[in-house]
Amino acid sequence: MKSFYIETFGCQMNVHDSEKVIGTLEERGYGQVQTPEEADLVLYNTCSIRDKAEQKVFQRLSENKKARGKVFGVLGCVAQQEGERIFDKAPHVSLVVGSASYPKLGELLVQIEAGGRRVTGLRLDSDDTFETAATRRDNPHKGYITIIEGCDKSCAYCVVPFTRGHERSRASASVLREARELAGAGYTEIQLLGQNVNSYRDASPAGWNFARLLEEVGRVDGIRRVRFTTSHPRDFGREIIDVIDRTETLCNQIHLPVQSGSTKVLAAMRRQYTRDEYMRRIEWMKASKRDIAISTDIIVGFPGETEADFEQTLSLLDEVEYDSIFSFKYSARPNTPALALEEHIPEEEKGRRLMVLQERQRAIQLRRNSALVGTWQEALVEGWNSAKGQWIGRTSQNRVLNFVTQAQAGREEMTARYVPVRVTRAGPNSLAGECAIAV
Ligand code: 5AD
Ligand code: SF4
Repeated sequence: MKSFYIETFGCQMNVHDSEKVIGTLEERGYGQVQTPEEADLVLYNTCSIRDKAEQKVFQRLSENKKARGKVFGVLGCVAQQEGERIFDKAPHVSLVVGSASYPKLGELLVQIEAGGRRVTGLRLDSDDTFETAATRRDNPHKGYITIIEGCDKSCAYCVVPFTRGHERSRASASVLREARELAGAGYTEIQLLGQNVNSYRDASPAGWNFARLLEEVGRVDGIRRVRFTTSHPRDFGREIIDVIDRTETLCNQIHLPVQSGSTKVLAAMRRQYTRDEYMRRIEWMKASKRDIAISTDIIVGFPGETEADFEQTLSLLDEVEYDSIFSFKYSARPNTPALALEEHIPEEEKGRRLMVLQERQRAIQLRRNSALVGTWQEALVEGWNSAKGQWIGRTSQNRVLNFVTQAQAGREEMTARYVPVRVTRAGPNSLAGECAIAV
């Protein structure tokens, strides 16, 4: 049997793309192995969102330069961004495929199997059908479903419009079919994926918007938790909150990337909203009868960001009181409009701002998590930490809740169950608790 190894970098879209790629390979008779040494075909599904992520794949390729008789492939965002230049940088690579061409992966593999060199799938205009019959899912309880591909925004710092192409929404019937299939296969949690799920427009005559799709997915029998990522503030409508309010299966969690607390910087980033417009959306969430946990993405050191602009980002943290944040130093990316901006911030200063930001947020998180001590939370059991002798659970708000049980249950009995847990301790990044039921 032919064997393959795949390593995935980047976001959940990439993780899910890899599941589709693995399914396609297995359908063609390939078997997955856990190390590149054992594999006939070595694949890297890559990310180019920041320079560091991009460098990782070239590092991997150079580590494996001398492996003879193997076929190397670069998939995903670096593949799309660098295209055939990858063959020059790493001549032992034979296959370069961007995500928009995964539906054609089978045909490309035929060329590879026939001894093809420099095989590419780089068209961005293919009309992906999103039929994912061959998806090989890794997680036994949480299933990802792609609802929209690509991105039509043009944020000044971002490579995604170049690596994933224009927006294509999937037909609602196809999304619901996959949700029902997942429920039928025993999955209880669904995560809807897209670069900008809020601009979802049903491609079929039903013409649903995102809020409607979300509500319908939330009604699928057997599904207990629905999450979605990622959202763009400008397209985030109030009706999404209304739907969450009336649909219990939709999780108490929204990720709404802000990027900066300064309206001036937001304009330079071409984000298409002001701080006040962003805050209005946060107010909708806080007015919800559900206790919605809010998370965000922040970039520090965007060109032209002054100390006063940065202070505004800090004050936004205090105002919103996020439950978690993902924060990054600005990284200049090829083709992006921000390259032309002046006043680039020195690396050292970006590093300082990042540390100050993370320190401020850490205190907020500790405070918010501590407020939950003494409460009961429903945890989905995701695994067992043998070093600590604790179960690893996750709450609807997407908080990690590690807990012990009174009676020691077997792994099979607990994993993927929903159990009530009393929170006894809190840290900045997780909660700890006790599950009272004897299982
Ligand atoms: N530099 C730093 N961070 C970036 N992000 C996107 N592009 C860049 C960049 N050029 C961050 C944004 C986005 C998250 C996925 O990555 O915060 O929301
Ligand atoms: Fe990385 Fe963005 Fe591509 Fe995801 S879409 S893999 S974050 S570059």
